[in-house]
Amino acid sequence: MAGGTIRCLLLVLAISLLATDVLGRQEVEEKRHDTKHRHAYAAMMYMGTPRDYEFYVALRVMMRSLVKFQIQADRVVIASSDVPAQWVQAMEKEDGLKVVTVQNLRNPYEFQGGFNPRFKLTMNKLYAWNLLDYDRVVMLDSDNLFLQNTDELFQCGQFCAVFINPCIFHTGLFVLQPSKDVFDNMLHELDIGRSNPDGADQGFLVSYFPDLLDRPMFHPPANGTKVNGTYRLPLGYQMDASYYYLKLRWNVPCGPNSVVTFPSAPWFKPWYWWSWPVLPLGLSWHEQRRHNLGYASELPLVLIEAALYISIIIVTKLVKPTCSKLCYNRRPEKCSAFMQGMVKVLVLWSMLATYTVPFFLIPRTVHPLMGWPLYLLGTLSLAIVVASFFVLPSLAVLTTWIGLAGSLFVMAYPWYSNGIVRALMVFGYAFCTAPFAWASLVKIMDSLQTHLEREPFFPRLGEVTQGTEFSKLY
Ligand SMILES: *[C@@H]1O[C@H](CO)[C@@H](O)[C@H](O)[C@H]1NC(C)=O
Ligand SMILES: *[C@@H]1O[C@H](CO)[C@@H](O)[C@H](O)[C@H]1NC(C)=O
Repeated sequence: MAGGTIRCLLLVLAISLLATDVLGRQEVEEKRHDTKHRHAYAAMMYMGTPRDYEFYVALRVMMRSLVKFQIQADRVVIASSDVPAQWVQAMEKEDGLKVVTVQNLRNPYEFQGGFNPRFKLTMNKLYAWNLLDYDRVVMLDSDNLFLQNTDELFQCGQFCAVFINPCIFHTGLFVLQPSKDVFDNMLHELDIGRSNPDGADQGFLVSYFPDLLDRPMFHPPANGTKVNGTYRLPLGYQMDASYYYLKLRWNVPCGPNSVVTFPSAPWFKPWYWWSWPVLPLGLSWHEQRRHNLGYASELPLVLIEAALYISIIIVTKLVKPTCSKLCYNRRPEKCSAFMQGMVKVLVLWSMLATYTVPFFLIPRTVHPLMGWPLYLLGTLSLAIVVASFFVLPSLAVLTTWIGLAGSLFVMAYPWYSNGIVRALMVFGYAFCTAPFAWASLVKIMDSLQTHLEREPFFPRLGEVTQGTEFSKLY
């Protein structure tokens, strides 16, 4: 039985590792600094948030993804001076990016009410106006997913942005013409503290370009010439992922369907392994990463964790560790209600830890098809340990695990007609499995109670050494 389970797990792991093409492609591109372009796609990178590494990976994946659309532009990273040297090197050598190093711009809004500290260094985005080598720049956040070539954006004017929200344009993608005058003027406006409702780059730019809503829509001239002035861009350049989740397909009827963005829910950015299948688009992002960056940097940790969990399962099956003598076989007068309560709390905490600890050990940006099997393997191994240690009914302990695995399949099922049907199916599934989860919890608690109240010298099957152990303890 144990051997079968382990073989089965190994097989699942092997398949998932193969499926995610773990070694990735470490194609080293030619540096193309010699063939200089007049246009650039740019993004900024700064340090000091808990998620620096994730944004570094996200930026690399996005920039590499542009190559396959054969863009006629440089790819530039505006990096603050504390970005680690090996990251800069990887971006220059492996990804063919141009890294422009800058000093962080001080954010004068960091002490205003409602300021979110994660926006502290977003003013660095203004350095885009200082990329004076270029005639036009498309400035990007790292959470953009490109569906096609968008080089026509370079025909837009001095400033062009998309209104995702009816009244406020979004600064996850915008076009600008670099200009020393505009850059200096913006720094001046920062110094005198121009009003900025959110304290971030978006609030500042919305305040700096207040009349964009009344500007005409940008249509790229067919003869390839550039236009002057400020323009609104069609929604198709910043399709909010939440539109997709409603219909489960793109449905921006007019204009291009070019770029997807993920503006809401910072903990469900598409690069986290847990974001798929909860949100279906996570897989598209990871397909891009698999094709252009690969997973070699996280792979060793994933394999070590998998090996650890498999050894935990094997050792548990062989040794059968149990606390039954310590926890349960006490003289009635010693087994106070307090002790019983303690053991129950301990069991509940262990079960909680079973489902949380493996989650936090997995590297955050691995492929969901590596992350989820590893998570399920981790929780399975810990659940087996808990069941064995506290002598609990295995099936009841594993009910939550089975329910969880099932919910992943319900969410990943690819043939829902739209997002509402999908949501209803997930609710339906939760509704149907809740009674089983509850029943298994009741069963675990019953079995625990039975152990706790058992006669102290009642012999249990297979515990022949009980007497000697007992006299050793007392
Ligand atoms: C290109 O097209 C625009 C209008 O779409 C026109 O105003 C402009 O004169 C044209 N330029 C050339 C060089 O043909
Ligand atoms: C836009 O402005 C630039 C410089 O000010 C000028 O050279 C160019 O001809 C203008 N383009 C159009 C389409 O008016």
